[in-house]
Amino acid sequence: MGEKKLMIKSSCVNNDGLVNLDWDDASRSAFHPIWLRDNCSCNECGDPAIGYRALRLTSLDLNCKPKSLDTDLSNLLITWQDGHESCYTSTWLREHDYQDQMRRARAFKPIIWDDSFRQNPPVYDYAAIASGDSNFLDLLKQVRDYGLCFIRNAPAEPGIVESLGLRIGFPQESNFGRVQDLIFDPGKRSIGNDVKALKLHTDEPYRASPPGILMFHCISNDQTGAGSSTFMDGFEVADRLRDHDAEGFAALCDYAQVFRRHFAGDVDLIAKFPILSVDEFGNVCGVRINDRVAAPLAIPPEQMVVYYRGLQYLLKQSEDETLAVNLTLQPGDIAVFDNHRVLHGRTDLTVDGKRWLQWVQIERGDFHSKLRILADKLAQSRDDNPLLKGAYGSF
Ligand SMILES: [Fe+2]
Ligand SMILES: [Zn+2]
Repeated sequence: MGEKKLMIKSSCVNNDGLVNLDWDDASRSAFHPIWLRDNCSCNECGDPAIGYRALRLTSLDLNCKPKSLDTDLSNLLITWQDGHESCYTSTWLREHDYQDQMRRARAFKPIIWDDSFRQNPPVYDYAAIASGDSNFLDLLKQVRDYGLCFIRNAPAEPGIVESLGLRIGFPQESNFGRVQDLIFDPGKRSIGNDVKALKLHTDEPYRASPPGILMFHCISNDQTGAGSSTFMDGFEVADRLRDHDAEGFAALCDYAQVFRRHFAGDVDLIAKFPILSVDEFGNVCGVRINDRVAAPLAIPPEQMVVYYRGLQYLLKQSEDETLAVNLTLQPGDIAVFDNHRVLHGRTDLTVDGKRWLQWVQIERGDFHSKLRILADKLAQSRDDNPLLKGAYGSF
């Protein structure tokens, strides 16, 4: 984790029965015995860090107590009352210390956009991404931290975005297909046939699990020059609501919106999730913003006014062009963004402009997994904490 290795100065069982550790930086930790026992990583118990466990909680005594403690600076050794022996390294204990300030310090912190980001969003050259892992890892980190980046000079050919997606994970298939073509085609029921401007939104909030990471590849742009793309930081928009109307913000976190997409005889997708998801510290960690697919609300009557007030303000912020990144995707451009954070939209297209985007979606767990694996491969610091939960509701 890049931290200096701390040493355990002393250990004892305190009056509450917790195992206290005093560290050589004068800080103190306290661990519950059942948590320590549950996380024993001896050969017999398995290793919870890699998801291999032979130990079953059902065979543990919830009131287990250490019989004796010992420390040798780098390790805590516990002999339990039943004679079982456990050993925990100081590094492991520090990394998993679950006290409030430690959890807070480890929590993932997205970087909210500012004007300098909007004027210069991260851009990578396709050749640099294609030729090695180092730039690719950088790109993934940009998406993790800012939710958005662009790739330029990719071949303007179908299939490119699929192979790029495969470098991260597995393109997710849905009723719209695996690799989706956004192109005007009157023979198909497709959002590509809607040439009117699309207001900023996140995709498919009517799914229990909306698309995680989206990759849009422009194969041809509208030949009339129409159809510029817009992106916006949904977290910034949500933070604006919180600053303006804390009650409205809370209503959008605490009560769920119903979203629905119904194509008769094909799919009838209905999901009920809050528009804003926050983590245990109240930081926004996911948004579902798409009033085109909102279905009738079912919330307590006394919440209706404040909910609508909050939602209207949120949507008005999403129309504030000073918050947006605007550009026209050129053939060979790819936008990579976190659909649980970043809103996207575009201006009017023309029917005969022949704009063609190909896109894939990647599950967010695969995205975070690839980040860790590549960081290991390149000997960079990794982060074992869940990165960004996404728009699945609040703790
Ligand atoms: Fe969309
Ligand atoms: Zn054990």
